[in-house]
Amino acid sequence: MNEQIVIFDTTLRDGEQSPGASMTREEKLRIARQLERMRVDVIEAGFPAASEGDFAAVREVARTVKESTVCGLSRANDRDIARAVEALREARSWRIHTFLATSALHMEKKLRMSPDQVLLQACNAVRFARQHTDDIEFSPEDASRSDVDFLCRVIEGVIDAGARTINIPDTVGYAIPDQMAGLIRTLRTRIPNSDRAVWSVHCHNDLGLAVANSLAAVMAGARQIECTINGLGERAGNTALEEVVMAVKTRRDFFGLTTGIDTTQIVPASKLVSSITGFVVQPNKAVVGANAFAHASGIHQDGVLKSRETYEIMRAEDVGWTTNKIVLGKLSGRNAFRQRLQELGIALDSETELNDAFNRFKELADKKADIFDEDIHALFADSGAHGEGDHYRFISMRQHSETGEKPLAELVLLCNGREHHVKAEGSGPVDATFKAIESIAASQAELVLYSVNAVTSGTESQGEVTVRLAKGGRVVNGVGADTDIIVASAHAYLSALNKLHSTIERVNPQTGTA
Ligand code: KIV
Ligand code: ZN
Repeated sequence: MNEQIVIFDTTLRDGEQSPGASMTREEKLRIARQLERMRVDVIEAGFPAASEGDFAAVREVARTVKESTVCGLSRANDRDIARAVEALREARSWRIHTFLATSALHMEKKLRMSPDQVLLQACNAVRFARQHTDDIEFSPEDASRSDVDFLCRVIEGVIDAGARTINIPDTVGYAIPDQMAGLIRTLRTRIPNSDRAVWSVHCHNDLGLAVANSLAAVMAGARQIECTINGLGERAGNTALEEVVMAVKTRRDFFGLTTGIDTTQIVPASKLVSSITGFVVQPNKAVVGANAFAHASGIHQDGVLKSRETYEIMRAEDVGWTTNKIVLGKLSGRNAFRQRLQELGIALDSETELNDAFNRFKELADKKADIFDEDIHALFADSGAHGEGDHYRFISMRQHSETGEKPLAELVLLCNGREHHVKAEGSGPVDATFKAIESIAASQAELVLYSVNAVTSGTESQGEVTVRLAKGGRVVNGVGADTDIIVASAHAYLSALNKLHSTIERVNPQTGTA
């Protein structure tokens, strides 16, 4: 029997720290259910001490997920840990993940603590957490830039205090594979109680080496990999789950290890995370990019037609690429719709929400004959601008473009419950639409990203639009979907404005900033 690597997914925590990737409680639940369906071993559901909203989301994930361990991050202090315990305690299986920086740079500049103080605080935090659960993970933040002798002292101390997983983060993506492997080997050899812990690795992708570093660590004895769907995460992101899992599976001859992941759930997970966060997957991205498989992208190379193995090392079906399946249509009733939502892991809180969603589905089915799973996900990804509680709500729009004339957009919007009719000209239809919205919103936000993607294939497809706005140090993403991409753009823009309008204060666990 091959040894199994623990797959620890941190899409909902580190992934969410990526500017603009913040998710609602309902969105986190949908992703958590998909991660569970994919048989991820540990789901890091968030940082409960960040805000009331984060706490509630972690608690909800803890109550819902049954097959994976649910984990909460906490800084190394009693208050954060107590908050995490409170959020997690109803889970069938749960873990506290606590961390403290150990590099000279972080200790001096960020923590303003001496090494002895850091050692004491790390051990105290683990001891405190141990009063509540046996499943404790400790991370010496910025481990790859820490002094190895000091790292050994801290890790030996926290294992003695009760940590059962030791996670080695390459926090700023600085490590090189050989060095990462060397570090894991050194720590496992030099720390006398190292055999009492599972060794884990958590790599960032600043130099594009996160996956390589994680796999090198595995070769040196790490048996847990921390990763995210699509490699989402701060700056250049984290280790991509789909890449490490498929590397271990495809090159089992080399690694001699397995994971428990149901790989056929990888592409659905990738699409779900992309449509919820608005972080589009590049076409040439390994495993989950649209061009990753000639077969899936419709490119029929001669060699592949003759024998698949000539150019393909993995099978598209094994990672969940299927031809779009028609699941519903114009004649589908509420029960069929409800059942498909259940199958997709989309749970709605009330009959009113179901009615709302069903109405939107019917509108879509009037415009588009065949409805695919991707269309249903897009209906829910388009979260802004039609909910009761939204500050800005989309009512209707019309838009005129003609060669030789300036495009004009006219919209009817609700702003704080009051109806407004707005119009503007622009250099193109999207510009005109955003200017018309801004004539009432006057947000002064900067548009930092605008992108459109087809949800499925064919010209009937819905366009999924992402709008990223930045204002006063905050970055938010809005996603909109419609068969009319100008309407989708208006939804996305209003959704981003609604997010900017909400003033939820949350703390970043690593920088301590809001
Ligand atoms: O990158 C990092 O160091 C982290 C820790 C909190 C594990 O995300
Ligand atoms: Zn990280």
